[in-house]
Amino acid sequence: MVNCTNSSNERVGPVLINAQSIQERVRELGAQITQDYRGKSPHLIGILKGASIFHADLVRAIDLVVSFDFIAVGSYGEDTKTSGEVRILKDLDESLEGRDVLLVEDIVDTGLTLHYLLQNLQSRGPNSLKVVALLNKPSRRQIEVKVDYVGFTIPDDFVIGYGLDHSQRYRNLPDICVLRSEREEGR
Ligand code: IMP
Ligand code: MG
Repeated sequence: MVNCTNSSNERVGPVLINAQSIQERVRELGAQITQDYRGKSPHLIGILKGASIFHADLVRAIDLVVSFDFIAVGSYGEDTKTSGEVRILKDLDESLEGRDVLLVEDIVDTGLTLHYLLQNLQSRGPNSLKVVALLNKPSRRQIEVKVDYVGFTIPDDFVIGYGLDHSQRYRNLPDICVLRSEREEGR
């Protein structure tokens, strides 16, 4: 498998969290969710595309009857920035009425995407609505959001891999790596 260390791509920087650590943490999150939702059937909504790989691993770490759906959102911001103007590109297939919804996000950065989504999904009448995010970058927060389960809290680096992209690339890296800035290329 191509990882951060052996990648021939010069934008792929050092490993921040390796694949094994990710898997261990996903197992722990799955065990915690299994305990907290005992007797319930959580509905896990993955936010496309970044959370797709985390979602796929997380649902298999939960020992309950679950269902899932996906939503795709976009913002009008630049590549590595969020404008705060969020729009739904692909809506859910199913109603949330009376369901125990767990929103699965790759990373919470400014919090703007999550803030918008939580308001939007709350209006659809779920029985409960919680958030699980693989990564949290609290130093960049612009709006307060409650994240119920966090995989890892990370510093203010732009990261790629395990679903996270830069310009739609590097989602397939098994580790989470730091994106090298263009001026560092070839170092
Ligand atoms: P927020 O609205 O600023 O919290 O940003 C949320 C979205 O921005 C995430 O779902 C990611 O798609 C993207 N994002 C934020 N930080 C990173 C990063 O370090 N790497 C890749 N994507 C990021
Ligand atoms: Mg995303």
